[in-house]
Amino acid sequence: MDQAATDLRKTEDQRPGPGRTKPVLELRNLVTQLPGEDGPLTIVNDVSLKVLAGETLSVVGESGSGKTMTFLSAIGLVPKPGRVVAGEVLLDGADLLKLTPDEMRETRGTGISMVFQDPLTGLNPVFTIGEQIAEVLRAHGSVSRTEARETAIGLLERVHIPDPGRRVDDYPHQLSGGMRQRVLIAMAIALEPRVLIADEPTTALDVTVQAQVLELLAELRQDFGMAMVLITHDLGLVARHADRVAVMYGGRVVEYGSAEAVFEHTAHPYTVSLFESVPSLDAETSDDLRTIEGQPPDPASLPAGCAFEPRCFFGQGREECKTILPKRATASMADHRTACHFYAELDTKRSCA
Ligand SMILES: Nc1ncnc2c1ncn2[C@@H]1O[C@H](COP(=O)(O)OP(=O)(O)OP(=O)(O)O)[C@@H](O)[C@H]1O
Ligand SMILES: [Mg+2]
Repeated sequence: MDQAATDLRKTEDQRPGPGRTKPVLELRNLVTQLPGEDGPLTIVNDVSLKVLAGETLSVVGESGSGKTMTFLSAIGLVPKPGRVVAGEVLLDGADLLKLTPDEMRETRGTGISMVFQDPLTGLNPVFTIGEQIAEVLRAHGSVSRTEARETAIGLLERVHIPDPGRRVDDYPHQLSGGMRQRVLIAMAIALEPRVLIADEPTTALDVTVQAQVLELLAELRQDFGMAMVLITHDLGLVARHADRVAVMYGGRVVEYGSAEAVFEHTAHPYTVSLFESVPSLDAETSDDLRTIEGQPPDPASLPAGCAFEPRCFFGQGREECKTILPKRATASMADHRTACHFYAELDTKRSCA
């Protein structure tokens, strides 16, 4: 394909609207295991999902459902001796799991980068923020000290840190939590990645600062044409920011689809329960969820059937749910998938309620 055609294809892929169907990042049947006392624990269990160019995929699910581990697997950072044992992680069609550790390091930053929940652990207290951003730039190419500093200042400006020329010499403790999160975002976008994964980027922040950080992420996504993965517990954020949603339970994606499909035609009882657990407006904090009764599954003793069955308002006690693992099925529309034996009845039940 000649250069003009390649450029054209790129533009089409990054264009907003129904034409954008090519995934930038695609996980196919990903399986990740960690060692357990009685043998390996499967923490990420046959996960398949797509992140399309210019879109935000939100990944939701209770604590321990495998959200973070899925994306650590995708970027080659599963804590040792855990490892990805099967599947593919395709970035623009190329499988990252086939890369050497050096190639993978190179791809983190330029291809795919991740911002973590806690802005303090992501920064080193003994270096200035300018030095830390410069380190990212220098690790991926030969830039002079002066160039790196200039670029760092530009990046701080890009993430709306006031007075960047002065702030570049600050140490992390001299900045507020919100500002530190912005610095981490600046580091993550320094090499203009194709995909930015933001893992609970705002939970440590107060509500106003949370909103500002998310606005910033949305703005950067737009400006750079990045695809974004937003891992969050906050379904309000999902409703506002997601184009697509993946719902995880017990290491599996149990429902996946466009935000419209998942919100309007919810096709898994777990998703229904999650939506019902959204706090009311007068709840004190976003953690103040009405929790779903019962416990999430223990990765050391996953059942043969559906892992949600013991807590499911719909399938609890049903033989099929207890004994047979539900296959992924197409729900309300193409690309809306659910892993529930009875999703068809579920929709009927909800519309009758
Ligand atoms: N370093 C680790 N060693 C052993 N088990 C781990 C480790 N990290 C995570 N796990 C286990 O892996 C499973 C998935 O964890 P993960 O952190 O991916 O969940 P999560 O969905 O991101 O949860 P949260 O919403 O709390 O961030 C959990 O059962 C957790 O206990
Ligand atoms: Mg997590």
